[in-house]
Amino acid sequence: MSTLVIVGAQWGDEGKGKVVDAVAAQADVVARFAGGNNAGHTLVVDGRKVVTHLVPSGCLYPGTRCVLGAGMVIDPDVLADEIASLHALGLLRDDELRVSLSAHVIFGYHRALDGAREDRAAGGARAIGTTRRGIGPAYEAKAARRGVQVRDLFEPELLRARLEQNRDVVGAELAAASLPAFDVEAAMRDAEAWAKWLAPVVCDTGALCHAAIREGRRVLLEGAQGALLDLDHGTYPYVTSSSTIAGGASSGLGIGPTLIDGVWGISKAYATRVGAGPFPTRLDDATGERLRQVGGEFGATTGRPRDCGWLDLPALRYGARLSGMTGLCITKMDVLAQLGQAQVCVAYEDGIDPGRDGLARARPKLQVVPGFDDPTLLGALTQARRFEELPRCVRAYLDLVAAHVEVPISLLSMGPDREQTVFVHEPFRSR
Ligand code: IMP
Repeated sequence: MSTLVIVGAQWGDEGKGKVVDAVAAQADVVARFAGGNNAGHTLVVDGRKVVTHLVPSGCLYPGTRCVLGAGMVIDPDVLADEIASLHALGLLRDDELRVSLSAHVIFGYHRALDGAREDRAAGGARAIGTTRRGIGPAYEAKAARRGVQVRDLFEPELLRARLEQNRDVVGAELAAASLPAFDVEAAMRDAEAWAKWLAPVVCDTGALCHAAIREGRRVLLEGAQGALLDLDHGTYPYVTSSSTIAGGASSGLGIGPTLIDGVWGISKAYATRVGAGPFPTRLDDATGERLRQVGGEFGATTGRPRDCGWLDLPALRYGARLSGMTGLCITKMDVLAQLGQAQVCVAYEDGIDPGRDGLARARPKLQVVPGFDDPTLLGALTQARRFEELPRCVRAYLDLVAAHVEVPISLLSMGPDREQTVFVHEPFRSR
């Protein structure tokens, strides 16, 4: 197995960054295939905290190619800041970064529209609770075939015509929201500046990944957000605007699905959600608050407090099916071990099925997880370095999860540091 997809199995924020970082140590290429700077990965290396929003988490390893694929929407100003802060840490040399010519560009008017629409909808049923980074409006323009691809930044005449087309479509909405008028000339100036520094890093990233796979290199395809935020299969309309499931890796990078060898899904040992939309196991009580505090459940991108709840196995099983997961990675087990109790949702009342009925009416059937009231649990857990060394109740919990989801546990994470990771399976075939 030399091509592995890693995707979120819940509503995002599952700790993908840490797992990708752990697996990226063995990868030659790490590529993102969807989303943009709505994602936020907090990585802790040698006690240093690094947050990336666009650059894949492989950026911490010298020599690893970091790819931003065609399915992404890229805010060049954010990318420039991220590159600068990684450079300041001595990370991400220019020859390590590659940006797809086919990715779409986020302009200031996309951000302005995203924020204005959220403001207008605030408090009502139509508020999605987006990250306000312009993601939805950029994908909307892409689907309407008036988006700006990275390649267009190098074609001023075509770009000007495309920007004028967008001005004609969204100008009235900007005016109605009392936002600054659509300034084609200012956008052209931004584009010219971006084109200069992007020129050495742009390429056909699909061809790059394809060639790497053919050469037997280890390629890690890093998803953003999670299965239940998928545009087609998530809790629509409370979703993001891209394909977050494993199939999105193939279309978002431009490589055939037959080149993908394995799919690891990431889930916390409990559940969180940020933004509006159904969340059957949400805890609106002191336990939910404690999960938020102990787990530091505040968004890496927006700082918003996340809603917290028990692990939802029917939803996880649905996510596993959508992505054809071959392995499941459970993160933040240390947080669950500090609560003094644990419960898990094993089914929904009335036989509700996530794929058929959605999650809006789902009411969870909860089961208590034995052994989590042991005050010595956290200490025993964090000392374990191998699966066999894990406390018995933790192993029983993982067995229960694997049995319900019908996917084996491949990795367990019980703390932010790299050492606090137990691999059950190897992510790549040994060479
Ligand atoms: P957008 O992707 O900014 O359009 O936001 C759409 C929905 O996806 C909102 O509910 C966001 O909170 C959620 N979302 C987007 N990105 C992330 C993420 O990286 N983690 C968790 N939720 C996200």
